[in-house]
Amino acid sequence: MLAVAVLGGGAWWVHRTTADAVTIPEFSPEAKAGARLFAENCAVCHGTNATGTEQGPPLLHKIYEPGHHPDASFQRAVKQGVMSHHWRFGHMPPVPGLSRKDVAKIIAYVRELQHANGIF
Ligand code: HEC
Repeated sequence: MLAVAVLGGGAWWVHRTTADAVTIPEFSPEAKAGARLFAENCAVCHGTNATGTEQGPPLLHKIYEPGHHPDASFQRAVKQGVMSHHWRFGHMPPVPGLSRKDVAKIIAYVRELQHANGIF
């Protein structure tokens, strides 16, 4: 509920951040590998620096902080896809060809990016 209240209060995260306004942290090696996998598999919809596109929402967003979307929800999203529920982009199809370890690297990337931008 808190997250909803914060969003309702007009936090700037409600609006999509432009990719060049994102703070890029010093990534761990795992996150660096994740960044490459993200660029190849996720950025087409979730955007450069996870800031979203016309096809998908920003993951650099308060609603995807670990307390609301834990790591398991990332694993599930990649494996099974996501029924549209938070946005109006439509469903996310499953993304084939990624192991759980690959997805763990992508999660490390997204979490480090979120953390550097005040989402944790
Ligand atoms: C074809 C477009 C597309 C691709 C490719 C894609 N996504 Fe998504 N993703 C979406 C959309 C659209 C949603 C939002 C669904 C909603 O909540 O309305 C979403 C939601 C999510 C969510 C939130 C899940 C939840 O429980 O609400 C996660 C996490 C996620 N995506 C991770 C990823 C990762 C990681 C990749 C790459 C491996 C990826 N996505 C690739 C379109 C995409």
